[in-house]
Parts: sequence; structure tokens; C-alpha cells
Amino acid sequence: MTLAMRLPPERAAAAASVLGRAFAKDPGFRWALPDDEKRATQLSWLAERLLRIATLLNGHVDALDEQPSAVALWVPVEKPWEEPLRMLFRAGLFAAPFTLGLTAVRRLTVMAAPMTLMHRAFAPIPHDYLMQLAVEPREQGRGLGSALLKEGLERSERAGRAVWLETTNQRNVAFYERHGFVVKGRRSLPNDVTLVGMLREP
Ligand SMILES: CC(C)(COP(=O)(O)OP(=O)(O)OC[C@H]1O[C@@H](n2cnc3c(N)ncnc32)[C@H](O)[C@@H]1OP(=O)(O)O)[C@@H](O)C(=O)NCCC(=O)NCCS
Repeated sequence: MTLAMRLPPERAAAAASVLGRAFAKDPGFRWALPDDEKRATQLSWLAERLLRIATLLNGHVDALDEQPSAVALWVPVEKPWEEPLRMLFRAGLFAAPFTLGLTAVRRLTVMAAPMTLMHRAFAPIPHDYLMQLAVEPREQGRGLGSALLKEGLERSERAGRAVWLETTNQRNVAFYERHGFVVKGRRSLPNDVTLVGMLREP
């Protein structure tokens, strides 16, 4: 039974809000965006740009319902991963210093560097990149994240493609291992944050 749907474009802002609320307690983003009051809004702003990037890169923005209660951003990667500058520009990320502040941008860049290095080192070409997966906080722990992830993984599996992701939340490692991912690398970030890169072979 298919549960997931493609997110209707007019629901992008609602999906970005879910992503912002869901990642507000993420260890990496707590360091990068230290203002507790502003973090969810800042993350929503970032997520809206990531949604645009996923669309520009012919990826999938999956949702469980129109609300949406759960969102997943998938991007097909056909050559060694690099931050696609033109895409970032078109997605509006160059406004980040004005919207998020210079400290946040510097810290996000510190996080992004080992992400890109691990991604390039460990993910085979081609593969699918699970850029974001999030469930509305009050709905977490009820199987929604697993259901949405499973459908995306089945799509990659049918296409014979590996899947790559990163997380800074150690609780997520066991979650993804249950879905067939293997830890390929760990990198230390400031503030005792550990970035984990995980791969799932088809
Ligand atoms: C990680 C996430 C997508 C899982 O979706 P979910 O619907 O909450 O999870 P499910 O009910 O399908 O599975 C439960 C498992 O998810 C993991 N999990 C991670 N964070 C969780 C949270 N805040 N609440 C509940 N489960 C969580 C645990 O492994 C949990 O199993 P456990 O209870 O035995 O520890 C969701 O909790 C979330 O959005 N977290 C915040 C954003 C995030 O970290 N996304 C992944 C980034 S790579």
C-alpha cells in the first residue's frame, strides 16, 4: 500500500515549518544556530531553500499527507557531490548572512565541510541522497518516519541505487541501522557534536 505522496508545491512552506520544528533540538543545529528562540524559524527558512534545491535537482519531496506530518527530501546524485553553487544562488541561500547572521553562516559552513568530504569519500556514484527526513514533533515515535523512509528506500532499491545520509543525532543511528544503513564515518564537530555518515547499499 502506498502511503507517501509527492508534496503539492503550495504546501512547501508548511513542510519547511515541520522541518524547522523537527530539527530544533538537533545537536548540530543547536550549535550552529544557538538562539533557542529563533532556531525553529531559522531552520524553516533554510528548509524552504533546501526544498527548492531538491526540486531543482530533480529530487523527490515526499510527504505522508497534505498537512504534512512527515517530510522527506531526496536528491539523485549522479556525480561526486559538491555544493551546487548556482542552485544555491537560485534557491536564495545567498541571503543567509542577512537572514541568519554571520556566526550562523560560519558555523553551518563548518558543519557542511566534513559532510561534503564524507559524502564524496563513502557514497558510490550514482546514489540517492536523503537530505532531510522529519516528523512533526508531537507525532514523533508513532511510526510515521519509518513509514515514509521505507517508501523512499523501496524506490531507491527498485532503481538499484544506494542511499547516503548524515546525522548529528546519535539516537537516529540505531533508527537508520534498523532500516539497513551502515555507519561509514564519524567526524567531530565543535561542542561535542559528532557527525555520522551512513550508507545503505541496494
Ligand atoms: C528521526 C525521525 C524522522 C524518526 O521518525 P519517527 O516517526 O519519530 O520514528 P518512528 O516512530 O518511525 O521510529 C522510532 C525511532 O525513531 C528514532 N527517533 C529519533 N528521534 C526520535 C524522536 N524524537 N522521537 C521518537 N523516535 C525518535 C528512535 O530510534 C526511535 O526508536 P526508539 O524509540 O526505539 O529509540 C523523527 O523522530 C524526527 O523527525 N526527528 C527529528 C529530526 C531528525 O533527527 N531527522 C533525521 C535526520 S537524519
